[in-house]
Amino acid sequence: MRIILGVTGCIAAYKAAILLRLLCESGADVVPVMTKSAHQFLGKLTLEKLSGHKVISDLFEDHTPKIKHIDLARNSDLLAVVPATANILAKFANGIADDFLTTLYISTTTPIVVAPAMNVEMWRHPATQNNLRILAQRGVTIIQPDSGYLACGEVGLGRLAKTEIIVQNIFESLKSSKQLEGLKVLVTAGPTVEDIDPVRFLSNRSSGKMGFALAEEAQKRGARVTLVSGPTYLPSPTTRHIQVRSAKQMEEAVLDRFKDNHITIMAAAVADFTPAQPENKKIKKQKLPNMLVLNKTNDILYALGRHKQNDQTLIGFAAETEDLPKFGLKKLKQKRLDLIFVNDVSKKDRGFSSTQNQVLCLDRLGHQTQSSLLPKPDIARFVWDQIQHFRQNLEPSNLKSTLSS
Ligand code: CTP
Repeated sequence: MRIILGVTGCIAAYKAAILLRLLCESGADVVPVMTKSAHQFLGKLTLEKLSGHKVISDLFEDHTPKIKHIDLARNSDLLAVVPATANILAKFANGIADDFLTTLYISTTTPIVVAPAMNVEMWRHPATQNNLRILAQRGVTIIQPDSGYLACGEVGLGRLAKTEIIVQNIFESLKSSKQLEGLKVLVTAGPTVEDIDPVRFLSNRSSGKMGFALAEEAQKRGARVTLVSGPTYLPSPTTRHIQVRSAKQMEEAVLDRFKDNHITIMAAAVADFTPAQPENKKIKKQKLPNMLVLNKTNDILYALGRHKQNDQTLIGFAAETEDLPKFGLKKLKQKRLDLIFVNDVSKKDRGFSSTQNQVLCLDRLGHQTQSSLLPKPDIARFVWDQIQHFRQNLEPSNLKSTLSS
């Protein structure tokens, strides 16, 4: 297990040496990276002797043919930044890559843990709080600083958290990043768009945020994720991203890949109807029909439920406006699902275009669990926790995979 320990310039930098030692004692291979200002507070020799690695600071000092930051990003399990200054949080939040540590941050896909330490006013400043919010939304684990006597003489929040707490957070993040290791996951997201002619279409209010958050969380837990999405404006969380437009295209993309995946989540809002005769040319106003003839689309999830093997886990979402448990359970049974997450789409503060959601989880073993109203990345964590819990409760033989991993 390889951990990259980033150290930035602040009085608490000396505590990084103690942390490094504890991590090494726990069996980790720790590669120290220091920013230029960290060198003002801590001698690099200490970290080098404790870790057995040269400290890396400069993007350009390495003359081997490999690109050092990319190589390190690909060959490590976690990036921890301890202590993290207000400056490094601002750079991370804004994607500024002007030295080794910041360039490493935007190249890595591993879990990231930061332990901030700074003066109480710097901590409270809206700019710092905003940067922390951005990083938390991206899934970075932020270890809250302690309150107490600060090096500047003031008393308040800003002291680096206790080393044992930092170690505990690092190992918890490492553990969760392996939870879905070896599993292939298929996630659908976003709306589908059903063309009437080259200008007009039928669609729905789905933004894709929930499905994208689910794909991102699965990736963080170590799964190999394929995302199939309708049109959205969201940045792609995975390189295996198939973009489709219509329900028909989504059906083909999903059916093609279903048998190769251990877990499939249909979070897409697939259109239930499509124009019977889409036109190749724009329909002129004078020729617009009074009625649009629609055909029903195929229910993709229903078809997947019929093809599902014992070792596959199939999950659906349900958009409801009333009696959530009753309609959710009906869909769970009809579509032969393992789990269903039901959301109330009648409320304005959640679901569709909102950044937050609340879901009711029902599984085929009869369990019901309700989440709180949370930001969608937190809902994604809740969903994955429920899926993993469900799989742990199954007979081991049902999970013995016949799929090649
Ligand atoms: N779904 C699907 N194919 C469709 C319609 C829906 O795979 N043509 C999937 C969705 O991705 C979701 C689940 O079915 O996971 C439930 O979708 P929802 O819109 O809540 O329900 P419907 O099955 O369409 O039923 P109704 O509109 O009557 O509530």
